[in-house]
Amino acid sequence: MKIGVYPGSFDPVTNGHLDIIQRSAKIFDKLIVGVLNNNHKKPMFTIDERVMLLEKLTNDMDNVIVDTFSGLLVDFVESYNANVIIRGFRAVSDFEYEIQLAQTNYNLNDNIETIFLVTRNEYSFLSSSIVKEVARYKGDISNMVPPLIADYLYNKFNEQEV
Ligand code: PNS
Repeated sequence: MKIGVYPGSFDPVTNGHLDIIQRSAKIFDKLIVGVLNNNHKKPMFTIDERVMLLEKLTNDMDNVIVDTFSGLLVDFVESYNANVIIRGFRAVSDFEYEIQLAQTNYNLNDNIETIFLVTRNEYSFLSSSIVKEVARYKGDISNMVPPLIADYLYNKFNEQEV
């Protein structure tokens, strides 16, 4: 059985992430979406919220499992007996960070390969940070995230203003 792991912060999940999940789920027999739980970036969404939202949005994909991890990604990948990490690649600006991640992970465990799926054109500008920035000022994010995520984001910013 071919198992792939798609790791990330998913704070929150975007249409770009969901596109990579859908495409990866067609390549692998089983896809584990790994949500990082030791994020120094101070996530806006709790780990439970990020998992719950991802689970709802991947509900119709039978071979996709959402799980959390803390510590090293390679250990998480190994715990599933998997040997492939999937990352989305948007633009040249991703190159330095992604190559550093991939090479570090390869140094830590050379049985584990990182593969990249090129993001669709329409999502190449998209990131969780951009979505949060636009939502903070009540901009239109309807082409960036599913309605479920948009509602959650606007509510969060409303709560913060109170
Ligand atoms: O969505 P992100 O924030 O770009 O994902 C980054 C992630 C979660 C893939 C990366 O930070 C990670 O794997 N963290 C776990 C710690 C780890 O294994 N670090 C070693 C590679 S530098």
